[in-house]
Amino acid sequence: MSQRLENRQIVIGVSGGIAAYKAVEVLRLLKRAGAQVRVIMTENATQFVGPVTFEALSGNRVCTGLFKDTEKDASIRHIEWAQEADLVLVAPATANIIAKYALGLADDALSTLLLAAAAPVVICPAMNSQMYEHPAVQRNIGQLRQDGRIIVEPGAGELACGTVGPGRLADPAEIFDRICGALTEKDYAGVRVLVTAGPTREAVDPVRFLSNPSSGKMGYAIAQAAEHRGAHVTLVSGPVNLSPPVGVRTVPVICAQEMAHAVFAEFDSADLVIKTAAVADFRPKDPAAHKIKKGDPNEEQNLLLERTVDILKTLGDRKKEQFLVGFAAETRDLERYARDKLSAKNLDMIAANIVGRADAGFGADTNRISLFYRDGEKEELPLMEKSDAAHLILDRVLDRVLDRIPDRIPDRIPDSLKSGTSIGQ
Ligand code: PMT
Repeated sequence: MSQRLENRQIVIGVSGGIAAYKAVEVLRLLKRAGAQVRVIMTENATQFVGPVTFEALSGNRVCTGLFKDTEKDASIRHIEWAQEADLVLVAPATANIIAKYALGLADDALSTLLLAAAAPVVICPAMNSQMYEHPAVQRNIGQLRQDGRIIVEPGAGELACGTVGPGRLADPAEIFDRICGALTEKDYAGVRVLVTAGPTREAVDPVRFLSNPSSGKMGYAIAQAAEHRGAHVTLVSGPVNLSPPVGVRTVPVICAQEMAHAVFAEFDSADLVIKTAAVADFRPKDPAAHKIKKGDPNEEQNLLLERTVDILKTLGDRKKEQFLVGFAAETRDLERYARDKLSAKNLDMIAANIVGRADAGFGADTNRISLFYRDGEKEELPLMEKSDAAHLILDRVLDRVLDRIPDRIPDRIPDSLKSGTSIGQ
């Protein structure tokens, strides 16, 4: 469960499109994250998905019209919902509801709620490609952007009507992610964050490599969390099966050498570096130019390895104002090895985790991290989602980085963080 969405009040507005069923999945994701969800449907939307589905999954009555409800206060319910909402989502948003909202029309429950809402509004257009590209629709979307609404661009592909092009409702996971972003305080606005993630692959020959099980989840969670908090984020990523985080500049690399080049090129313009990547310490000294062939069944092969560049140590040697966070992946003696790395690599903080467990370290969605700081302080975090661990690490960094880059930190920092002691200098 994401702590960021827990008990947040979200209204989902569903307008009449074939993608209405995908709003069900968004609702599920929001509920799973602990949000309170209310659903308001246009009359047309009820032709695609029954209100009962949304009612069952949200645990709340669904509003389907201004005067349809027999309850006494039904006609003002949508106004109350608008006032109580932390965020309003419209998914799918048809050309019709987009036009009404852009013009300020209020002739049904959803369009009325939209005008009454003071909370952030996220609009997810979905329609036929030609409709989507029509100048009138684009003009209305542009107007909503100008009004400060968040637009989640539709994807491209084959649409229900058979045409191929843009107009397909964005993936529920992306919509969920944008909601998280919209509800996150921008306490990293202006801060330049460099994150590394994933494994590296060191070639043995053109078809084989040495690597490790890093999925990239921890590093991607940190990059996304920093982006949600307003940072300019560059993510240098080894090969993983994850979609690049929205709003993050992602630089794909394969091997340790490439990662080193990419990181060194970005380092001078970073305020904060978080090195989550599982970089190979060794690589084959002489990778074969062609696929190594099997010979005699009893034949043994020796693989001569050489050290890769220690990227983090090089950064520690070069660092000026940057705040440097390393990770330590260990199978034993976590604290001893983490503290050794903290001092040998001249880090400000290290996040250490035991790897080789099902619920933490490589590949898992959760992690159990211990944080060690330069002044000797230590903090053991409980098992939590990697996304929550990412935010916690960023909270702790902000605590300690405040007096280093005060000009980049906006006024909106919570008092709890302002009073944080400054260590790691
Ligand atoms: O990707 P996931 O599946 O989500 O898994 C997350 C994780 C287990 C990979 C992550 O939480 C983690 O522990 N990352 C660090 C992995 C690692 O390489 O640890 P290490 O103890 O070997 O290295 C210490 C630090 O030096 C790391 O910050 C590493 O990025 C850096 N390093 C290591 C070797 C090298 N040649 N260059 C480096 O910069």
